Amino acid sequence: MLKVLISGCNGHMGRVVAQICREAGDVEITAGFDLLGAENGDFPVLSSPAAFFGEADVLIDFSSPAALPALLEFGVRRRVPLVLATTGYSAEQAAAVESAAERVPIFRSGNMSLGINVLMALVTKAAAALEGFDVEIVERHHNRKVDAPSGTALMLAQAAAEGLPYVPDYVYERESVRKPRDKREIGISSIRGGNIVGDHEVLFAGRDETIELRHSAMSREVFASGALRAARFLAAAPGPGLYSMKDLVGQII
Ligand SMILES: NC(=O)c1ccc[n+]([C@@H]2O[C@H](COP(=O)([O-])OP(=O)(O)OC[C@H]3O[C@@H](n4cnc5c(N)ncnc54)[C@H](O)[C@@H]3O)[C@@H](O)[C@H]2O)c1
Repeated sequence: MLKVLISGCNGHMGRVVAQICREAGDVEITAGFDLLGAENGDFPVLSSPAAFFGEADVLIDFSSPAALPALLEFGVRRRVPLVLATTGYSAEQAAAVESAAERVPIFRSGNMSLGINVLMALVTKAAAALEGFDVEIVERHHNRKVDAPSGTALMLAQAAAEGLPYVPDYVYERESVRKPRDKREIGISSIRGGNIVGDHEVLFAGRDETIELRHSAMSREVFASGALRAARFLAAAPGPGLYSMKDLVGQII
């Protein structure tokens, strides 16, 4: 049995991760962590990993950047690999993750879905091939999301940047500047509304032609099952290191 801890277990994603783990058959949820602390039936819910003294093979986190210090401290001290799916980390927090990954395996991805990771590979190729095209990214999410732009939009911008012959500037709003679009920009726009799980569109706009590459997540299960795949991968990882979906799926295309 794979012994899994779920951080943020009472949130929208945490609940779906718990369900995916229950359905897997070979996974045992040893405990969950959440500030809300509500009972969850089949596993204990603690307010912090510091209060957990049982056994675990891996921890899956879908919570908040505020939870990161306690998670890193726990992972390093107890040698428990961490799957970090939470988005919105600061540059300092991202550096702390890298430093902790020298001592314990950490898997970090702003988007755990297979489809998005294939999209990223396509975006890099399209950006390299479509010389002179303007690149714009539009992301849509539910009205509860607090960070903007989405971590996935930034990952897609990075994927485009890898294919471009120049280092692009990211532009998040055009309202305050009255000037034509610079050729080296990647515009990133965020839309919030309803219960949209996650839509990302990358537009390549050239003279008299456009190409749109788009991914829509229909349910949160795509992220939860990706996170469990990442957990299995990490539990079998050869040693400390910072892993991502690229390591999991290899060179897809
Ligand atoms: N990487 C991916 O594929 C992916 C996919 C979906 C969501 N996310 C990210 O996962 C995170 C959670 O998303 P959600 O929709 O489930 O949010 P949510 O608000 O529904 O759930 C978050 C849960 O974490 C708990 N929490 C907050 N701070 C905590 C702390 N310090 N310690 C322990 N628990 C804490 C909250 O009480 C809540 O129950 C967000 O950052 C979101 O952007 C990532």
